[in-house]
Amino acid sequence: MEIKNIAVIGSGTMGNGISHVFALNGYNVTLIDIKPELLEKAISTIKGNLERQVKKEAITPEQLVKTLSNIKTSTNLSDAKDCELVIEAATENIAIKKSIFETLESSCKPEAILATNTSSISITEIAAFTKRPDKVIGMHFMNPVPVMKLIEVIRGIATSDETYGIIKSLAEKIEKVPVEVHDYPGFVANRILLPMLNEAMYCVMEGVAEPEAIDTVMKLGMNHPMGPLALADFIGLDVCLSIMEVLHKGLGDSKYRPCPLLKKMVAAGYLGRKSGKGFYDYSKK
Ligand code: CAA
Repeated sequence: MEIKNIAVIGSGTMGNGISHVFALNGYNVTLIDIKPELLEKAISTIKGNLERQVKKEAITPEQLVKTLSNIKTSTNLSDAKDCELVIEAATENIAIKKSIFETLESSCKPEAILATNTSSISITEIAAFTKRPDKVIGMHFMNPVPVMKLIEVIRGIATSDETYGIIKSLAEKIEKVPVEVHDYPGFVANRILLPMLNEAMYCVMEGVAEPEAIDTVMKLGMNHPMGPLALADFIGLDVCLSIMEVLHKGLGDSKYRPCPLLKKMVAAGYLGRKSGKGFYDYSKK
């Protein structure tokens, strides 16, 4: 099956980045969210990120115009009906995903592949909301999507070799590097990354060092592009907490317990960059 038409469900950071990359590579993208104002914001973010690429001479001004013209927006999930691939990038909430996948199952073509960008929910569980578990797969993009090369391609228990092969070659066509991963809590990326971020938070909580000092150790000592606390703020502290909870519950090992300071900050609404405050203060930027 040739993929040409792709629907992306959810226009937040990941959804708009995924739409950006496919539209830039010539695919017809339908970006779907519940409110028109969210879609307007997403298009303006995509335009801003494309302008940044034009400024860096990574793309031409003509490519910017063409990319934007490849993206349609909609507030209706049934507008995914003619797509060969749907990529869900909605909120990390199993009830929301259930409702989306049940609707997609009834409205999409039987041969359409239903992918999810979930960072931690089980692909096998999501696939069970449909009657086509062989055509359900994880495509876990990394933030910022236009920059990061990796896509974790996650096979649920029933994902077919054919579905995996189509998604692997699609990832290569958009110049990403697909890595095959099986369905266990946190997959590979978040199972390894999040405990490190959580440990950095324990270091803050126990007064081992200030956030700036911890980040400097990891940037200059390990050559990480961002320190763990700046990265946690970038990912969103609510997202970090929910991934740690999935690891803790799913793997049942106390080494994955979320740091109490992380829980306290999320309860206070300190969510990182998106709320203006996390381990750092973003309110003045
Ligand atoms: N769209 C397009 N281009 C972008 C961009 C965006 N949103 N954001 C940055 N860029 C481009 C810049 O134009 C720049 O391009 P050139 O190299 O061609 O000049 C390049 O990316 C680097 O950007 P900057 O110079 O502005 O800033 P930087 O050098 O500090 O890099 C960064 C920024 C790429 C975010 C870098 O700090 C980094 O790699 N950080 C780590 C990111 C990371 O770990 N992501 C994974 C998070 S975990 C995840 O996503 C999974 C999950 O489920 C939680």
